[in-house]
Amino acid sequence: MNLTANQAVEVLRAAGEPSRLRILALLAREELAVLELCRVLDQSQPRVSRHLKLLAEAGLVERFPDGAWVFYRLTRAGAADALITELLSRIDPADPVLHRDAERLQAVWSERADAAGEYFARNAARWDEIRSLYVSDADVEDAIRQAAGPGPFRRLVDLGSGTGRMLTLLGPHAEAALGLDLSQQMLNLARNRVTEAGLAGCELRHGDIFATRLPDASADLVVVHQVLHYLADPAVAVREAARIVAPGGKLIIADFAPHRLEFLREQHQHRRLGFPEPEMARWLADAGLSDLRVTSLPPADKAGLTVKIWTAERGRAHQRSAA
Ligand SMILES: C[S@@+](CC[C@H](N)C(=O)[O-])C[C@H]1O[C@@H](n2cnc3c(N)ncnc32)[C@H](O)[C@@H]1O
Repeated sequence: MNLTANQAVEVLRAAGEPSRLRILALLAREELAVLELCRVLDQSQPRVSRHLKLLAEAGLVERFPDGAWVFYRLTRAGAADALITELLSRIDPADPVLHRDAERLQAVWSERADAAGEYFARNAARWDEIRSLYVSDADVEDAIRQAAGPGPFRRLVDLGSGTGRMLTLLGPHAEAALGLDLSQQMLNLARNRVTEAGLAGCELRHGDIFATRLPDASADLVVVHQVLHYLADPAVAVREAARIVAPGGKLIIADFAPHRLEFLREQHQHRRLGFPEPEMARWLADAGLSDLRVTSLPPADKAGLTVKIWTAERGRAHQRSAA
C-alpha cells in the first residue's frame, strides 16, 4: 500500500535531519543498542534517544528492550520502509560522514570481538563448568538428542562448537561432522575431546558463524548451541546457519529465554539477554525454514535460566529461497 502525501511528508521529515539519517543508515546494517549508536555518532544518550523516539513515532524504527539495554532496528514492512530503503540506496556509499560512521561501527565491533575472543580464550578450560552454573546439562542434552532424532546424519555441522560438547553428543550418529569456532583455544580443547571420544570423522575448523564459507544445503543437521547471545547480529547468524541446511535437514538452536541477569553482559560477554519466541520464529521463517518446534527447559533452581530449543526444517519440496 502506498503512503498518503501527508504520511510521506512525515516520513521524510523524520529522516530529514543529519543525525537521524545517519542512524537510519547504521540500522540498515544491523540492529544496534542505544549505547552503541551513541558511540558511533559520538553524541549523548539523551540526544540519541530523542532522535530514536522521533524515528519510532514515524514508524521507521522499532524499539525492543533487552534487560537494561534497549535495541533498535529498522521497521521492515510497509511503504515507509520502501521509501527509506530507496532513499538510503541513493546516497553515495563513499559519503564521508556515512563512511566514517561505518568505520566507527566496525571499530566498536572489533573491540567487542577482541573482548569476547579474550574471554573465550581465558575461559576455554573452564567452559563446561561455567555453562553448568545456569543450566542443567543433562536435561539440555536429552532435549537436543530428541530434537535431532535418531539419525543417522550424513553431515553434522556445529557452529560455535566451543569445547565440542555437541559434537561428542551427536557425532556418533553422523557419518561426518564439522565443528566451527572463532577461538583457537576452544578448538584445541574440542580436538582433544573428539579424539578421546573416538570420533574419526569429526573435523574442527577455525571459522566465523557469520561467513562459514560452507556450501549451500551441505548439512542435514546444523546446531547452534549457546552462541547467539554473544553475537552482534544474531539474525544474520541464523540466516547463515539455515543456508547450509539441506532439503529435509534440520537446524537446532539452543539459547536462553529472555532473562534479566544483567551481570552476564558485564562479566561474561553476553550481548542479548535471551530471545523472545516470536523473534526467533520470524528469523527462522525469514531464512526459509518451517515446521518450527520449541522446547522450553525451566531452570533447576531460582538462580538458573530457562533454555529454549528451537528446531526448524528445510522442506524437501523446495530448494533454498533465502539468500
Ligand atoms: C558459549 S560457547 C558455546 C560452545 C558450545 N556450543 C557449547 O555449547 O558448549 C560460545 C562459542 O561460540 C564461539 N563464537 C563466538 N562468536 C563466534 C563467531 N562469530 N563465529 C564462530 N564461533 C563463535 C566462541 O568462541 C565460543 O566457543
